[in-house]
Amino acid sequence: MNNAKSVLITGATRGLGEHLARQFAARGYRLALTGRKREDLDRLGAELSGQAAEIVLETLDVTNFESIAPVLNRCAEQLNGLDVVVVNAGVGFATPAGKGHFKLIRQTIDVNLTAAIATAEAAVELFRSQGHGQVVGISSIAGVRGMRNNGVYSATKAGFSRYLQALRLETRRDGIVVTDLAPGYIDTDLNRSLASRPFLVSAEKGTRIMADLIERKVSFRYVPPLPWTLVAQLLKWLPDSLVAKM
Ligand SMILES: NC(=O)c1ccc[n+]([C@@H]2O[C@H](COP(=O)([O-])OP(=O)(O)OC[C@H]3O[C@@H](n4cnc5c(N)ncnc54)[C@H](OP(=O)(O)O)[C@@H]3O)[C@@H](O)[C@H]2O)c1
Repeated sequence: MNNAKSVLITGATRGLGEHLARQFAARGYRLALTGRKREDLDRLGAELSGQAAEIVLETLDVTNFESIAPVLNRCAEQLNGLDVVVVNAGVGFATPAGKGHFKLIRQTIDVNLTAAIATAEAAVELFRSQGHGQVVGISSIAGVRGMRNNGVYSATKAGFSRYLQALRLETRRDGIVVTDLAPGYIDTDLNRSLASRPFLVSAEKGTRIMADLIERKVSFRYVPPLPWTLVAQLLKWLPDSLVAKM
């Protein structure tokens, strides 16, 4: 039997999910890659097949909430268990308040909060049956403080973070680790159209740091930890008059 650890990633077709898949492949993990677009999964699977110990590809749109647990369980069966589930799939739209953006608002909540929690719930159920496992949630520095035009994104990330905090308390006696990673700006499609991306790091660097933190089983970290741990403290205390200008 192959003893390499196994990791499932949602939203593995682009951005941080795709780069995390590369990081874990290079570290010899067995991979379960899930995403909406089959052709992107096939492309990534072909690229990584020489490196990863084993790869399973599963099409999954996480807003099909009832599909999440069956997909996780199928991947676990094929890989003889899952050690890590990375709840990564996410969207980031500007949704200035009161300007008719409810469709995007609903999608943001569906993907970043409802589906993220549904994925973590399915992972915990599986991990309890295995007796071990690590849930990794990708929240955001945006969860620290509501910012102009991004209130809903901030709300979903803050909400997911609070859920993970409680999950950690509920699962600590079940052999389950809960890791919450809150990135600042990592170069992906999600933020490429923004006018300003302070302290930007490449996706390769950002996901290398994330993979290290996941292997260290940390509870919570900003990514990269510096400067974002300091920036987060500052953001919490700055007056509205200053934050409104950002
Ligand atoms: N990049 C950053 O600086 C940053 C900062 C803080 C937090 N984050 C978080 O990190 C995570 C990844 O973001 P990213 O930067 O990699 O963004 P990205 O480049 O836009 O990639 C997002 C990924 O999520 C997938 N996705 C979106 N909706 C989905 C759905 N309904 N079902 C399944 N997959 C879906 C996308 O799939 P498709 O290809 O099918 O669209 C894509 O693979 C998100 O949760 C984001 O909020 C990122």
